[in-house]
Amino acid sequence: MTDELFKVKTIGVLTSGGDSPGMNASIRAVVRTAEKFDIKVFGIKHGYFGLINNEIVEIDTHDVSNIIQRGGTFLKSARSDQFRTEEGRAKAAENLKKYDIDALIVIGGDGTFTGANKLSKEHNINVVGVPATIDNDIIGTDETIGYDTALNTALEAIDKIRDTADAHERMFLVEVMGRDTGFIALETSIASGAEVALLPEELTHVDEVKKQLHDMLQAQRRSSLVVVAEGDETGGALKLAEKIKDDFAQYDLRVCILGHTQRGGAPSARDRVLASRLGSAAVKVLNEGHSDIMVGVVNNSLKLTPMRVAISKKKDIDHTLIDLAKTLR
Ligand code: F6P
Repeated sequence: MTDELFKVKTIGVLTSGGDSPGMNASIRAVVRTAEKFDIKVFGIKHGYFGLINNEIVEIDTHDVSNIIQRGGTFLKSARSDQFRTEEGRAKAAENLKKYDIDALIVIGGDGTFTGANKLSKEHNINVVGVPATIDNDIIGTDETIGYDTALNTALEAIDKIRDTADAHERMFLVEVMGRDTGFIALETSIASGAEVALLPEELTHVDEVKKQLHDMLQAQRRSSLVVVAEGDETGGALKLAEKIKDDFAQYDLRVCILGHTQRGGAPSARDRVLASRLGSAAVKVLNEGHSDIMVGVVNNSLKLTPMRVAISKKKDIDHTLIDLAKTLR
């Protein structure tokens, strides 16, 4: 909905939840676009925690120079239990008023948007969400900021593991991030030619996994790579290793957990462009009077999704890619 009378003068911007490569590029785009519209910007440090605790500083174009290429977030990120309470959000709203901040841009994932949605409803604050998480699990955008970089970081590591796995004719279980969704696991498994991928979206029958691996080894595969999403129902790579190690003793089973390496590093070109587009769009749509929405890119065009829809469910994995992974094994 658009309210023609509403004109933004001051915006607050924060990053919250798990960081992702490209968050800095997004903050930069917010600041530089706001300047073009004569809008003042306050950076809020440590996400909602900082909003409640008054870590609010004015930032301008110079503060955001030389950050587009950096991973992490120069505004820092945090999780705040206090913001989950009505009292916490009331304090946050009070601080926004104190600084005359009339609109808020939140950069993060579904937890971040859930908080923003409540703040907007309870205190009539204009908010826009910018989707940034390596998990890529937000509906309303083809990709989230940071996903492409994380995918390539994980893939580079998996390729290296394949070299050593091949050299020793070993079996490796490689765990990638994805507590609730298997986007990274699925796409890295296709791109690396992994023998098996285990995802939270599919039931995992350990006996079937064993059979697949046995069949492949009998077909003269020299090494085996299993990509396991951390949220897979087996409980991750270490637990899976316990369940299958005796069956594959001759393949000298090894486990490698890629963990937080996937969250850091310089954002890819694609993530920098996506972050720049979405950060800039967030300012423009706020200035047009939109609120309680998320900006995304679908089929290369900007798309606005009501925040309540964006947080209503996780994005579903592309099942045709699951079929593709199985066909190409
Ligand atoms: O950013 C999302 C995510 O990467 C999940 O895949 C993972 O489970 C989680 O963050 C871990 O985050 P933290 O260690 O910060 O709690």
